[in-house]
Order: sequence, then structure tokens, then C-alpha cells
Amino acid sequence: MSWLASQTADDKLLQHQLCASGKLPQHVAIIMDGNGRWAEERSMTRTQGHREGINSVRDIVEASSLLGVKYLTLYAFSMENWRRPRMEVTVLMDLLLHYLRSELDELHRNNVRLQAIGKVNALPKNVQKQLFECIETMKNNTGLTLTLALSYSSRWDMVRAVQMASLDVRRGKLSPEDITEERFASYLQTHTMPDPDLLIRTSGEMRISNFLLWELAYSEIYVTDKFWPDFRRNELYEALGDYMKRERRFGKTSQQIIEEESAETGSLKRILNVLRS
Ligand code: IPE
Ligand code: IPE
Ligand code: MG
Repeated sequence: MSWLASQTADDKLLQHQLCASGKLPQHVAIIMDGNGRWAEERSMTRTQGHREGINSVRDIVEASSLLGVKYLTLYAFSMENWRRPRMEVTVLMDLLLHYLRSELDELHRNNVRLQAIGKVNALPKNVQKQLFECIETMKNNTGLTLTLALSYSSRWDMVRAVQMASLDVRRGKLSPEDITEERFASYLQTHTMPDPDLLIRTSGEMRISNFLLWELAYSEIYVTDKFWPDFRRNELYEALGDYMKRERRFGKTSQQIIEEESAETGSLKRILNVLRS
């Protein structure tokens, strides 16, 4: 089913209002937390919480794609999550496999491109196979880039980057003084994406749990008390609305930002006038 064709009039209107109110983030990253607590509150099993969490994933992916967000990165399983009880890890891997199998057609039909970051070769073989099949099928799509962080650890990715850069130094392909921030970032698994503009964490925890430590340097952070299974498109719109009201200064003063923005609108106006005349 095409998401555009099935979008409700109310949702279209909400998205339209949101887009008219400012500049959307290009890249949204989400720490999807709180499935267990959501289930506990309802005397359900953690498995049921994870299952309901997948419905949130579906809704957020669809809404982001319709809005025209370019990159959505979801923290689905951390390297540290391998320390959870074996039964829970098995359930999470089964759910991931099921999600990839059941969503492939719909994601592909809606022009989504799938990527994965993390130590994916630590995943069970059947999950890896399904994941690579999905990535391959969708590799030429041009819509939303959906990146799943699986068996992901940002420290691991940075150590891996240092190892690869060191190998290039040893082979004579790189000299240490050429290691700039850009060069370092080019060795990270996230090198194909811009840094996240907005980081969302659900369920109220004020930490980043080893997620995109390098890439989040200047991201705006939004933490909501909602548990992940309760985080649906309207909650996303709220987070985006909050983001759009913020002033991103990147170390500069507020005055500088205002001047830069008015210079930008000024030159835009000049271009429009030239085109009109
Ligand atoms: C997020 O929910 C899912 C994963 C980390 C895989 P949790 O399972 O962490 O839920 P809480 O934090 O225990 O409520
Ligand atoms: C972070 O959630 C990882 C994912 C959402 C996949 P956790 O529930 O594992 O984080 P901590 O342990 O509370 O920091
Ligand atoms: Mg948690």
C-alpha cells in the first residue's frame, strides 16, 4: 500500500502545518526506550512491550517518510543489550527477523532505503541474511534513508575507525597529520549520513547509552516521558515542533544567527525579484 494514498486528511493537515512552521530536521535519530516499562505498567510481559514497540516503529517510519525527513536512525539493539537474559535477546532477534520479513515489500514500495550500523556480524545468521537481502533490494531507493542501529556501540565504532585509520597509516595511504575531523568521520559507519539534527529519547532517561557519541556533538536533544510503544506520529510532530522553535547557535551568539538568517532571506528576496523582473 502506498503511504501517501492511505494518509488521512487530518494527518495531511497536521503535516502541512508543521512544515509551514519552519525547517524540518534533515536527520532524526531516536533511542527507542521503555518497551519493558510500558508492558510492566499493564501487567504484560516484556515481549508484549517489544511487540507493541514495533507498531511504533511502523508508524514513525511512515510518518517520517511522508513528511520528507531524509534520514531516520533508530537505535534498536545496543551491543550492551547482549547482556540481557538469553530469552529476551532471542525474542528481540525473532521480532527483528519478523519485522524485516514482513515490512520489506511495503518499505520498498514506498521508496525507503535501508541501512544498518553496528557489529551486524554478531547477529544470528538468519537475521543477517534477511537484513542483507532487504538492504540489497532497497539500495537504489531515493526516499527516506532508514538506518537501524543493531548490535551498535558508538565507542566500538570509534575504536574501529582508529584501527582502520592506523592500518592506512601503516600502508602509507595516510599520514597522521592528515587526520582531520572530516577524515576521522569518514572511517565511521555513519559516514554516508549527515550528523543528526535532532535526537529523541523516549521514556524519560537522560542519557545517550553509547549512541552516536561523535555524531551528536551539536544535535538538539528532546526527551519525552512517553514509553516507546506510546510514541506515535503525533508525539513525533510534537518533538519536531519543539525542535523547530529552537535556535541552533553552533557556538556563535544569538545576534550572529539573527544576522545570518536575515542576510539569507535578503538574498533570497533579491533572487526572487530578479526572477520576477
Ligand atoms: C527498549 O526498551 C528496547 C531495547 C532496548 C531493545 P527496553 O527493553 O529497554 O525497555 P525498558 O527500558 O526496560 O522499559
Ligand atoms: C538503549 O536502551 C538502547 C536501545 C534503545 C536499543 P537501554 O534500555 O539498553 O539503555 P540503558 O541501559 O537504560 O541505558
Ligand atoms: Mg531501556
